Amino acid sequence: MRGTILVTGATGNLGAAAIDHLIAKAGPDRVTALARNTEKAAPLHAKGIDVRLGNYDDTAALEQAMKGVSKVLLVSSNDHGQLLTQHQNVIHAAQQAGVKHVVYTGTAVKDADASPMSPMLNAHFRTEDHLKDSGPPYTVLRNTMYTDALPIFLGQDLFERGINVPAADGKVPFALRREMGEAAANVLLHDGHEAKTYQLTASEPYTFQDIAHVLSEHTGKPVPYTSPDPHAFEDNLRSAGAPERGIAVLSAFVTDMREGRYDIITQDFENLLGRKPAPLRESLREVYGL
Ligand SMILES: NC(=O)c1ccc[n+]([C@@H]2O[C@H](COP(=O)([O-])OP(=O)(O)OC[C@H]3O[C@@H](n4cnc5c(N)ncnc54)[C@H](OP(=O)(O)O)[C@@H]3O)[C@@H](O)[C@H]2O)c1
Repeated sequence: MRGTILVTGATGNLGAAAIDHLIAKAGPDRVTALARNTEKAAPLHAKGIDVRLGNYDDTAALEQAMKGVSKVLLVSSNDHGQLLTQHQNVIHAAQQAGVKHVVYTGTAVKDADASPMSPMLNAHFRTEDHLKDSGPPYTVLRNTMYTDALPIFLGQDLFERGINVPAADGKVPFALRREMGEAAANVLLHDGHEAKTYQLTASEPYTFQDIAHVLSEHTGKPVPYTSPDPHAFEDNLRSAGAPERGIAVLSAFVTDMREGRYDIITQDFENLLGRKPAPLRESLREVYGL
């Protein structure tokens, strides 16, 4: 089905990646960006696409922005406390505006109730339920942890001090955000994805030891991995001046990784890309510019 595709979160990383792939594959005329900040949206105009303003908190503005749009990529909000309400607003607006297909980017995690991040993770799953129950035809893309997010966990001094993250031998099928944007673009541009839920994960899971090994090879210098006591990890962040909320969130994500909640492997990502996703070696080279 042809028609205009609106991408939310267009001023963010994943939205921008999806937009670049959509423009490359279908041309700028089919792409509309939703942004909430005029200044941040300026580079999107330069790409030759239609830019509309709307905030996930403002259903009327969202509905207005979705006029004439046939498909929406709903990039999940980063406002953890408001996630479900904001997503419901976007889905409601899409329904009201007559959108024919909503693609939602959720999260690829299991046993969410056991997670210290359960409110946020369950908001993703409740968004999926809401979309299935009361939205237009849907596709869910459950995204694994971004390889691009690793620098947040590994810190700035990893090449001097090694990796000190309490992830033990927990496995995560890290994947590049730009490839997730590409997979989302493919779903939006091709038929046959309605009522499907895909898990966008690498083809194999990686430990932090694997990451240390690859970084050592890339740099030619040993990057040792130690998995400290979780409290020691938090204290280190505290003495480096990190805010308490940030420490809690980082520590919670690492707990989920350590306890295997991201250890999900499917072929969905490979199938949507039409090739294997970038292996760890290539992804880390890209993320760290090595
Ligand atoms: N899988 C992972 O490892 C991982 C890691 C981090 C986040 N995530 C999730 O994946 C999403 C996309 O990742 P990302 O890297 O692209 O995040 P990002 O760069 O922070 O982008 C988030 C986008 O959402 C927009 N947004 C946030 N609140 C909004 C609101 N109330 N109304 C309208 N737009 C709003 C932001 O707009 P502004 O530019 O105006 O702020 C931005 O464009 C995140 O929002 C988060 O839910 C996943």
